[in-house]
Amino acid sequence: MCGIIGYVGFRPVNETLFRGLRRLEYRGYDSAGIAVHDGERISLLKRRGNLDSLEPHLEALPREASMGIAHTRWATHGHPTTENAHPHLDCRGEIAVVHNGIIENFQELREELTARGHRFLSQTDSEVVAHLVEEEYQGDLLEAVRRALRRLEGAYALVVMSSREPGVLVGARKDSPLVLGLGEGENLLASATPALLDCTHRALALENGEMAKVTRDTWRLLDLAGRPVERRPFEIPYDVAAVEKGGYADFMLKEIYEQPQAWKNTLRGRLDRSGRLRIEELEGHGIDLSSIRRIIFVSCGTSYHASLLGRYIFEAWMDIPVEVDIASEFYYREPRLDPSCLVVAVSQSGETLDTMGAVRWAARCGAPSLSVVNVVGSMMARESDGVLYTHAGLEIGVAATKTFIAQMAAVYLLGLYLGQERGLLEEGFVREVFSYLESLTGSIEEVLEDTEAVETCAEKYCRCEDFLFLGRNINYPMAMEAALKLKEISYIHAEGYPAGEMKHGPIALLHPGFPVVALIPSDPIYDKVRNNIEEVRARQAPVIAMATRGNHEVGGFSDEAIFVPEVRPQFNPVVLAPALQLLAYHIAKMRGCNVDQPRNLAKTVTVE
Ligand code: M6R
Repeated sequence: MCGIIGYVGFRPVNETLFRGLRRLEYRGYDSAGIAVHDGERISLLKRRGNLDSLEPHLEALPREASMGIAHTRWATHGHPTTENAHPHLDCRGEIAVVHNGIIENFQELREELTARGHRFLSQTDSEVVAHLVEEEYQGDLLEAVRRALRRLEGAYALVVMSSREPGVLVGARKDSPLVLGLGEGENLLASATPALLDCTHRALALENGEMAKVTRDTWRLLDLAGRPVERRPFEIPYDVAAVEKGGYADFMLKEIYEQPQAWKNTLRGRLDRSGRLRIEELEGHGIDLSSIRRIIFVSCGTSYHASLLGRYIFEAWMDIPVEVDIASEFYYREPRLDPSCLVVAVSQSGETLDTMGAVRWAARCGAPSLSVVNVVGSMMARESDGVLYTHAGLEIGVAATKTFIAQMAAVYLLGLYLGQERGLLEEGFVREVFSYLESLTGSIEEVLEDTEAVETCAEKYCRCEDFLFLGRNINYPMAMEAALKLKEISYIHAEGYPAGEMKHGPIALLHPGFPVVALIPSDPIYDKVRNNIEEVRARQAPVIAMATRGNHEVGGFSDEAIFVPEVRPQFNPVVLAPALQLLAYHIAKMRGCNVDQPRNLAKTVTVE
């Protein structure tokens, strides 16, 4: 939620900040702004709308600036207007602040500061930070920010500058991500590493309760008590090309086509020489897997659907109860956990605050947590007891695609690994299934090569305003994921439903203008799903059947058929997911939607 960046160095500041913002735009795009310091004073530019609205006005900023801060917003407090866009200034225009997160006690602070004569120009929670720093400023920006932070409750990643201290940026974080990019004669602070790539590949992540003071040639980390913090920088493992579209019309399409690679990379290097499954990043995690009596997946959105898949797989392979919870519903009900419960947190970003809440709740209860995360070194990866990385690479499109398939790979892998480590799965079985998983790369490629039927369906039904996706058993989470994908990028109302449950209510909705996408790959419950499709047809709703290639009867009971390659029933989700993503993608494009930046959304949700 929101992307922030600060730059100090030798490059043209306005362009450098703007390029950095472009790399963070996936985090929020309802308004944006830049403040630069020209050696004497701070100049400000803000606009409602995404970065395209800001770009034509960049010339209005002084060219001789040597540092600045910038922000692309996803509104929480206050409408997406120019006034509410960041950076925010104090009363004198001497302190400028960009913020990602939520200041929970902002009302109280605002009232207090207003009573002391401060004038507020926005409705945001963030503006109080500029005024608080102003109150505390006595010639040392770092100290003023440190003192101001003591008053803040909630989550924040901040970058602050003062007109009185040219060349100095101060950053701080609590529960919202902030990284420091280390260049030669230039340094940066930003929400995420893509924003650093035009300047440097060397970075380090600030931890909760840490601050950074940065100039063009120096940087220092410290905690809130002012004590120095040591941290080794890391190399950012991808380059600028990864954050470009590479000839595709959108990031989403590029990422859909990167799925075979994401699948392969997540499985790569997981077998040791003796043929045992080995998850290097889980070694030395200290979780006693043999004492686990219960597994609870927690996650949000698409990651929740990968978790649901996990339940089917784990229950099939292991005699252990598995639950799946939506993270935002998990910790507020204070579920009873103990050291025999393993909490598996699934998250692309590793920063989703709801899921973080579950990880922290597990820690409070003494229950071990294991995260399945894509962003290396993210907060969840650091705070959970063990981590399994998905290696999908950077995902920019707001709709999760390649990270979903990588999560599926991770879930199969984790199931095999837990079964192996707990002595429940034979070594031969683990090896055989693992090599089958590897072979599925080709099946994913096949889905992506043959898109004609998907595009035909998209064209025929793209003007419908409701869709129902039906799946049963292990394919039910795919129906839910398909509905989420369609909703978020095309704004069509869609529901994912268990095929057998439809007759208990939703069937009342059906009519000839309400297409039903039925997932009916070949598997042991094929006949049951077929019966459910007949129930749909009896209500004259059009049926789009997604079936296994070679099924010659499907045309007899559907209006359209989309075929996916034949795979073992337990792995049908792997070939259904890309086909469903493509269907959602083409429908959204035919409706003229911006699939990379759907309205009201942000890629990383760091608020509750
Ligand atoms: O980073 P996370 O996996 O924790 O994010 C969870 C959801 O916010 C995310 O999956 C969201 O639903 C996506 N927009 C789905 O495409």
